[in-house]
Amino acid sequence: MPPSQPIRATRGVRDILPPERAVWQVAEAAAAAIAERFGYQEIETPIIEPAELVERGVGESTDVVTKELYKFQDPGKRWLVLRPEGTAGAVRAYFEGHLNQGPQPARLYLMGPMFRHDRPQAGRYRQLYQFDVEAIGDDSPAYDAEVIEIAWNWFKDLGLNGVNLQLNSIGDAKCRPAYRQALLDYYRPLKDKLDADCQRRLEINPLRLLDCKTDAKYAAEAPKVTDYLCDECRAAFAEVRRLLDAAGIEYRLNPRLVRGLDYYTRTAFEFWHEAIGGAQNALGGGGRYDGLAAELGWPATPAVGFAAGLDRTVAMMHEEGIEIVAKPPADVLVVPDGPDLAVAAAEVGRISRQVRPAMVDFSDRSLKAKMRAADRFGCRWVAIFNADEARRKVVQLREMASGEQREVAWQDLPEALAS
Ligand code: HAM
Repeated sequence: MPPSQPIRATRGVRDILPPERAVWQVAEAAAAAIAERFGYQEIETPIIEPAELVERGVGESTDVVTKELYKFQDPGKRWLVLRPEGTAGAVRAYFEGHLNQGPQPARLYLMGPMFRHDRPQAGRYRQLYQFDVEAIGDDSPAYDAEVIEIAWNWFKDLGLNGVNLQLNSIGDAKCRPAYRQALLDYYRPLKDKLDADCQRRLEINPLRLLDCKTDAKYAAEAPKVTDYLCDECRAAFAEVRRLLDAAGIEYRLNPRLVRGLDYYTRTAFEFWHEAIGGAQNALGGGGRYDGLAAELGWPATPAVGFAAGLDRTVAMMHEEGIEIVAKPPADVLVVPDGPDLAVAAAEVGRISRQVRPAMVDFSDRSLKAKMRAADRFGCRWVAIFNADEARRKVVQLREMASGEQREVAWQDLPEALAS
């Protein structure tokens, strides 16, 4: 029995179809190009990871882990997750693949799908795509500035104008406890005025209170993390700013910027777009995560990186009217006119493909309908032939734009199509 309703995609996911996929290809190609111009090399890591990697890495109290994780037991009863982000996996791969024994830092980038069981809405998907850049193995603030410069250049290369960089330092294990205490002292008397979600944050992760949407007015008056930085963190933050200034990268200091993942130390940043605003709708974000490797049981190793969302970046390309002209699927459409011409048509296709992408219309539609299809695809040429022409091994080669048509022998097609 077939299902009563046709089967559709699950909630919160979507298909990226042509011609939209062409826009994504432009964004992905620009991402790879800019990362490689800085000497970063592409890696792939598995989409499934041990649950513990993400729970420990991203943090047990984060929304990503408590509310949004796709977690399941495989047939071998191991707890796995669909990765919600790429950083924990990249750090795991760095050690398992012995990149820690190569030149440092390892400069890596990764592109692919991440999974978060978020409430679906505009700009929020359950399968989202990230361009992720990581520099693992060196604590110099120069790498913080470098990864920011990569992201900055990527947005610029795509032609986006509405992006701004929000910059903060959230301290490290040495200075964070004092700031945490200051936040607790400030928020505890306000507890009854906070909504349930923020009350929970007060108990488990006070830093995240600064991100409370409904209680933003309290965050505005809250103690600033930058007033609590230790000397080392303060010096590192000054160095990041000096490097960004020298690179001509504008930023807005935002002492209330906290990230949704627990592993950050020192530099934290986000790229916002004026059309989507607000921290929850960043195009991308990242920072330093010097404590993550040790949290995962590997030797303590400093690192910094960022991830940008491809979904939102592409959406902003549309928002800003950046036009990407999708290429036709092929330059040549081979159009046999009559029955029993499939073998000949396939051969004409093969010959054409020596020089041009070519596809064959194997349907039994009328010639008129096939020509209409060629027009809709936007093919530059159509190679038409009937049974008699097939016997003579010639086609009528028509250039669609000019309407010019001439007889061309199959063997001469590569030359005729080369121009
Ligand atoms: P994140 O801020 O959680 O950081 O995600 C980075 C970007 O992924 C966001 O700014 C957003 O554009 C996109 N994104 C996240 N969730 C969704 C969603 N549900 N729908 C659409 N887009 C989404 C990280 O993931 C860190 N691993 C970044 C990093 C790398 N930090 C250091 N290295």
